[in-house]
Amino acid sequence: MSSTNGILPCRLGLVVTLAGIVCLSIMFFWFSPSPTCPPQFVQQVQHYESSSAKSSNSLTDTAENKPILLMWFWPEDFRFDLNDCKNIFNIDSCLLTVDQSLYSDADAVLIYHKSISWDLSNLPPSPRPPFQKWIWFHLESPTNTQKKPGLENLFNHTLSYRQDADIFTRLHLTVRKKPADDFVIPKKDKLVCWIVSNNAPVTGVGARNTFYQEFSKHISVTMFGKAYASHLDHKDYYPTIASCKFYLSFENSIHKDYITEKINGPLSVGTVPVVLGPPRKNYENFYPRDSFIHVQDFPDPKSVAEYLLQLDKDEDAYRRYFDWRKYYSATPHLLQQQEFDLPICTACDYIAKHKEYKEIHDLYEWYFN
Ligand SMILES: *[C@@H]1O[C@H](CO)[C@@H](O)[C@H](O)[C@H]1NC(C)=O
Repeated sequence: MSSTNGILPCRLGLVVTLAGIVCLSIMFFWFSPSPTCPPQFVQQVQHYESSSAKSSNSLTDTAENKPILLMWFWPEDFRFDLNDCKNIFNIDSCLLTVDQSLYSDADAVLIYHKSISWDLSNLPPSPRPPFQKWIWFHLESPTNTQKKPGLENLFNHTLSYRQDADIFTRLHLTVRKKPADDFVIPKKDKLVCWIVSNNAPVTGVGARNTFYQEFSKHISVTMFGKAYASHLDHKDYYPTIASCKFYLSFENSIHKDYITEKINGPLSVGTVPVVLGPPRKNYENFYPRDSFIHVQDFPDPKSVAEYLLQLDKDEDAYRRYFDWRKYYSATPHLLQQQEFDLPICTACDYIAKHKEYKEIHDLYEWYFN
């Protein structure tokens, strides 16, 4: 008996231990996280760790890989929605900010030329991080550019309307793969229109005013804009241009590539632009030859007026100025607060693609000569 009594508790212990091991194993496999579907709390912990390791800012995983583009000034103090790049142009390649406290982390700083003070005291502070690129942002022609001293060798990239800038900005026509035949010329109740917002002689408007003086003797022109006391609200901008057969797309000063929204407005709504600016060849870099009338195709302003009057009576000839629309389409440019969206978003896209070292020497030498 005594011997059996000694063996019995021992066996019992063994059974209990084995049962315990089996039981624990089942529980372990049952509750352990599956590799394909980790439970929520694991992810949360990982996320918390990575964001705290990245110090202060709460950027998401994808945003961390995007370069930061710091806009140092709001151009012309126009405040637009910083999500416009994504929402309007589908450009989401940088983190665009105006938060100057991100200066030391910013991959690039966008500096609007007109906002820089003459003594340069409102430029970003020194020292400048060695990886950081400064972008000279300027859309005026040389005639309307103040030569503020000290900027000649400060920048890494240029952002301009000029084709030879690092980042050049222009709203191009879009090619259609399938020809479109559905264009209807909008209803016209005016012959020639012109919106003039700034007519100060210092802006270089001499050439267009001389032309206009003679031209308007031979044809009637409906004028709009600040310079003519008939202010045009921006919501009326496109409908007004659309209601005219011809629109005077006269640049304020004449420079290579200086072909502005003044031609895009009429092209996008279905009005024939009459252009005064750089030579026809330059326009044809960007617009089909039969989409506009160039004043230099004629010997004098009077002949231009006569030609327009003739087109006014010849429906078929007028209609031919819209043939290009079969193959290309024009997009209305953004107005007012959103006027600078396109160049800024273009810069955003550029800095994400261009990591190379670059310096601009003799900025003005390039810009003025
Ligand atoms: C940017 O340009 C400045 C001035 O020319 C130069 O000192 C700096 O090394 C350049 N930095 C980069 C990242 O290209």
